Amino acid sequence: MLISWSEQLSLGIPSIDDQHKKLINMINALDDALAEGHADDILQNIFDGLAVYTEKHFAYEEELFDKYQFMYSEAHKKEHEALVVEVKHLQQKLNDGDFMLGIEVMDFLKQWLTNHILGSDMAYSEFLKSRGVT
Ligand code: FEO
Repeated sequence: MLISWSEQLSLGIPSIDDQHKKLINMINALDDALAEGHADDILQNIFDGLAVYTEKHFAYEEELFDKYQFMYSEAHKKEHEALVVEVKHLQQKLNDGDFMLGIEVMDFLKQWLTNHILGSDMAYSEFLKSRGVT
């Protein structure tokens, strides 16, 4: 398992913790599929699913920022946008067949997600909780 969920990663907002758990599960599934030597099209499908769900999760957070006028939302949205651009770039390269998923990408996804949850996401948790978000 590439990433293990722990209470350390919990924001204390169940809807968002559940989405983060799902993202972690999807990254772990991709890592497992890679380790098991699955074909490129299967890996690509899992990666595409991860990309779609990531955007859905970002949209959920950003809607909450807008709804409650979170003061630091612009910087947070920029972080989301940068990852989406990077993932789309990787998808394009995978589609073109000039790139293969490997340990570097998995390590990048792991670092990005855990750092983002522990840093930027954690920074809004008290604010959204104080607004009654569950
Ligand atoms: Fe949970 Fe800002 O992503």
